[in-house]
Amino acid sequence: MGDSETDPNVASPEAEGSRISRRGFLGVAGGAAAGAAAAATGIATLSGGGSAASGLSDRDAVEPFFATHQGGISTTPQSSTYFAALDLDTSDRSEVVDLLRTWTDSAANLTAGRTVDALSTDGGDVEPDSAEILGLGPSRLTVNFGFGPGLFEKNGEDRYGLAGRRPAALVDLPAFFGDELIAGRVGGDITIQACADDPQVAFHAVRQLVRQAAGAASVLWVQSGFNETSASIGTPRNLMGFKDGTVNPAGAQLGEFVWVGSEGPRWMSGGTYVVFRRIRISIDDWDSQTLGAQEQTVGRYKISGAPLGESGEFDALDLEATDSDGNPVIPVDAHVRLSSAQMNNGQMILRRGYAYNDGTVPPVASLPQSEQAPLYDVGIFFCAYQRDPRKGFIPIFQNLAELDGLAQFTIHTASAVAALPPGAPASGSWVGQPLFDS
Ligand code: HEM
Repeated sequence: MGDSETDPNVASPEAEGSRISRRGFLGVAGGAAAGAAAAATGIATLSGGGSAASGLSDRDAVEPFFATHQGGISTTPQSSTYFAALDLDTSDRSEVVDLLRTWTDSAANLTAGRTVDALSTDGGDVEPDSAEILGLGPSRLTVNFGFGPGLFEKNGEDRYGLAGRRPAALVDLPAFFGDELIAGRVGGDITIQACADDPQVAFHAVRQLVRQAAGAASVLWVQSGFNETSASIGTPRNLMGFKDGTVNPAGAQLGEFVWVGSEGPRWMSGGTYVVFRRIRISIDDWDSQTLGAQEQTVGRYKISGAPLGESGEFDALDLEATDSDGNPVIPVDAHVRLSSAQMNNGQMILRRGYAYNDGTVPPVASLPQSEQAPLYDVGIFFCAYQRDPRKGFIPIFQNLAELDGLAQFTIHTASAVAALPPGAPASGSWVGQPLFDS
């Protein structure tokens, strides 16, 4: 290794489509269908910025809302996310059902690039959609809804008659070694995650859904995130500079590791469980490490993303390989060794993380005066999907929290777990319906 011309692990020197629409249009998910419907009734449509020749741009790309699985899980990752954890304020089951119905209708509209309500100037008594998506197009928006433990039971109370339906896999997350969770940024009865190729589209979606929840649910904590997802760069890099997302379940592995199957409960079939973690990275410390030290910590080369000792990003990890001194090529405390399926009973989780950049946090009080500068508050909004967190995130992270070399640079500051039910299959159905109807 070391010849920059041939070694892939060494850097080379060169190296307005929104629709103003009415609730009556619910269920028209495709952009073309929505456009046709709008044209037929005279409701305004605005171009998403496509070329005159095609009339289409990336902004016009639509991810279908009505589907077997909720969007934003196995969907090709978008470049932005906005997440909100909400607590339910009502003790009335029918209000929760109404909320889920309304949210489903709104999410179907939003993902088609439409506002959630008609924008009328005729003095209606409903505050309108804030409308900052006008002209931005659907931008591949996906919206998914998750059910936290508090929907089923909270403080020993069965508020909605659902305690008996709580899935065994929806466990409360244990405290992990080194956790520094911030009070008020833990859990949530309901989670909403919007992902889109435009940050304004993602935020707008959550903003509208939260507005519609007034009186029934309110925000506990939120998180935004971003990723560089252009096809030309391949696997995106996290803020540590490493490609992140190389090893992930795909194809048939999604059925094996991500989607709930016949193990039930039946209302979760086709759904999944998600763990959200806001992980701050001490990038000031990370940046003071040599490239070699960083690569030993991760267990992969920074430039190519290949496992140490290999040359291709997608080459298999060889955990047995040793160097001429007999030391493991991939160190015993390397992140990829400890998180790999080989070290975790063959288990895989679907990771769909987003970088976050939230300004700064105050310096550590115990540091000398010369080091009293604010620290970057940046890191990863880590989203991990699996069929059962008791086999996926929990044991994998228990291992990592104690032994991972990367852990000395990361601090987990917020956390939530939720059951993501299957998608609403067709217009007229709503997310979570099988839970409440069964
Ligand atoms: C700030 C925190 C983290 C960073 C910067 C990070 C970074 C990375 C990087 C660079 C890779 C190698 C490329 C890839 O396969 O995607 C990786 C792999 C992986 N990470 Fe993380 N990670 C973090 C947290 C976590 C956590 C909390 C978990 C699970 C509990 C986890 C689980 C995994 C798994 C399962 C792999 C694939 C390992 C393999 O089979 O090769 N990571 N991570």
